[in-house]
Amino acid sequence: MPAKKTVSESKLLHKKLIDLWNRGQSEYCEVRGSNIHGRGVYATKRIPKEAKIIEYVGELIDKNESEKRGVSQHAHSVKTGDAAVYIFTLSRKYDIDGNVPWNTARLINHSCSPNCEAWIEGRKIFIHSLKEIKEGEELTFDYGFDVDCYEDHPCLCGTENCVGYIVGRAQWPELEERLKAKAIKSAGKKKKSS
Ligand SMILES: C[S@@+](CC[C@H](N)C(=O)[O-])C[C@H]1O[C@@H](n2cnc3c(N)ncnc32)[C@H](O)[C@@H]1O
Ligand SMILES: [Zn+2]
Repeated sequence: MPAKKTVSESKLLHKKLIDLWNRGQSEYCEVRGSNIHGRGVYATKRIPKEAKIIEYVGELIDKNESEKRGVSQHAHSVKTGDAAVYIFTLSRKYDIDGNVPWNTARLINHSCSPNCEAWIEGRKIFIHSLKEIKEGEELTFDYGFDVDCYEDHPCLCGTENCVGYIVGRAQWPELEERLKAKAIKSAGKKKKSS
């Protein structure tokens, strides 16, 4: 039988849990139903440019563990259709698994015109504003997904700049090439069959 906790041990544990929970919250934002997808994170008040909004909290894991969890989170998301992968690259050795309920920032959606960016500070990740954000605006950042799996991730950000897929901005030229090649191929097929 596990040893009974003393009152002071229980109080300490309770305080640790509250502190952990608070680390994943911010006065600047809260979770609401999103126009982009599922739930999202919205500004509860005006956020100035370059403000530190919220920490992306989670478990520090090495790359081996990250690989395993990434595969299992992806398989789960394919099966249920409602989950996602919450692994965030931290360094060459470590990642953060943000798949914990107190990590509010895990619900921030992707946009092709994002208003936020993730900054790494030591072993922590913080979401910062790239521009002034009005009260009620949804917070978004560039997920930076690889172009190789673009077809698995259609983008519904709805912005003027939307490229149609969740792909990191650095790979947009490559995406454009691939979309052009695909369009030419399918036009060729149509011609042949008519
Ligand atoms: C980390 S979750 C973000 C929170 C998510 N909206 C939810 O309710 O769980 C990431 C997933 O949200 C969805 N998502 C995020 N941004 C999106 C976008 N711009 N267009 C379409 N789906 C998006 C994708 O399914 C993605 O795998
Ligand atoms: Zn988009």
